[in-house]
Amino acid sequence: MYDVYKIREDFPILRKKLRGKNIIYLDNAATSQKPVQVVEAISRYYREYNANIHRSAYLLAREATQIYDEARREVANFIGCDEDEVVFVRNTTEALNLIAYSWGLNNLHNGDEIILTIMDHHSNIVPWYLICSIKKCRIKFADITDDGYLNLSHLEDLLSPKTRIISVPHVSNVLGTINDVEYIAKLAHEYNALMIVDGAQSVPHIPVNVNKLDVDFLAFSGHKMLGPTGIGVLYGKHSLLQSLNPFMGGGDMIKSVECSIGGGCRISFEYPPRRYEAGTPNIAGAVGLMEAVRYLKRVGMDNVRRHEIDLTKYTLDKLSEVSGIEIYGPKDPAHKGGVIAFNLEGFEPHELAILLDQLNNVMVRSGLHCAQPLHMRLGIKASVRASFYLYNTKEEIDIFVETLKILSRKNRM
Ligand SMILES: Cc1ncc(COP(=O)(O)O)c(C=O)c1O
Repeated sequence: MYDVYKIREDFPILRKKLRGKNIIYLDNAATSQKPVQVVEAISRYYREYNANIHRSAYLLAREATQIYDEARREVANFIGCDEDEVVFVRNTTEALNLIAYSWGLNNLHNGDEIILTIMDHHSNIVPWYLICSIKKCRIKFADITDDGYLNLSHLEDLLSPKTRIISVPHVSNVLGTINDVEYIAKLAHEYNALMIVDGAQSVPHIPVNVNKLDVDFLAFSGHKMLGPTGIGVLYGKHSLLQSLNPFMGGGDMIKSVECSIGGGCRISFEYPPRRYEAGTPNIAGAVGLMEAVRYLKRVGMDNVRRHEIDLTKYTLDKLSEVSGIEIYGPKDPAHKGGVIAFNLEGFEPHELAILLDQLNNVMVRSGLHCAQPLHMRLGIKASVRASFYLYNTKEEIDIFVETLKILSRKNRM
């Protein structure tokens, strides 16, 4: 039995009162709240284990190294890969930049093509734009259908022998659309192209197994999945990580640095994943992420997903009673993550977000959500976004929708 009220007890911030009322946190696509288990694991790390890793012979440093390696194993097990296929980075953005610079700079050539989607987050557009301007490559954007799904036949039309990469969001951070990554990966591989997945909105919310999906790279952020900020993951297939040059250079990612006075250097790099983790990593962040993964495993990702489907269905039904509302993206919760973007007639998105907050502490995001091309495609200037997680309740949705109804009625008077 999924007990959302029991889960809520683990999240101290959800007991916080603002303006004398409970807070209603519906901005989970931006970042999630943290359970006490994660907060305590980070604190325990600093109180009991803190030392730099991979460097020192003394016992405390060996313990810190062990705990960091254990975090890598836990994350690998969570997404179904080997531990040496998990590179710790800062966040999804850094993971995607790492691929763009390590793979793109060395493998893309004049005239090559990269297929992205018009629903992509800026994190999966800007790095490719930067690399393409250096390597003289071209980005092509796959369109969406009118009901907010990825237009697969358009994506297929864009494929050509020049296609080197397909990179898509697994779940759109605005429309909530869940893309058929397994199918797109097959297409990419038929064309000998790389399949890259932005998993920022999928790994926290739906079961993800990289082997089953057969993707080449997957990027995600710890802070959106109950973990701390400053830690994220790049999964890369072993053979690919073995063949790439590092993104950043420095300590801990080299085997040997031989330089001669007045002469040059001979440098050899560590094996992956350490090759891609230059400098002292975010050890405490990895520990926090490990605890977050353990928490999600205990709840069960199937249960997290079921809860979000239930909340999304409930919200979509209730929102249909609000006059003047326009909702973007698929309306079928089975094909949608727990993300609902909308506009309410008579209100600017920012104004609406401020009113929801002021009236009932309902916290939603307003603006472009780092997806300007998608908003342009939808023909809107901005939107409001409510996004759910494992601790949200139907009572919170009731308050959210009732507040919208009051505002909509007032606007019509
Ligand atoms: C789909 C998607 N991709 C990438 C990102 C970037 O994540 P981060 O800011 O943690 O790097 C986000 C964050 O909102 C996202 O929703």
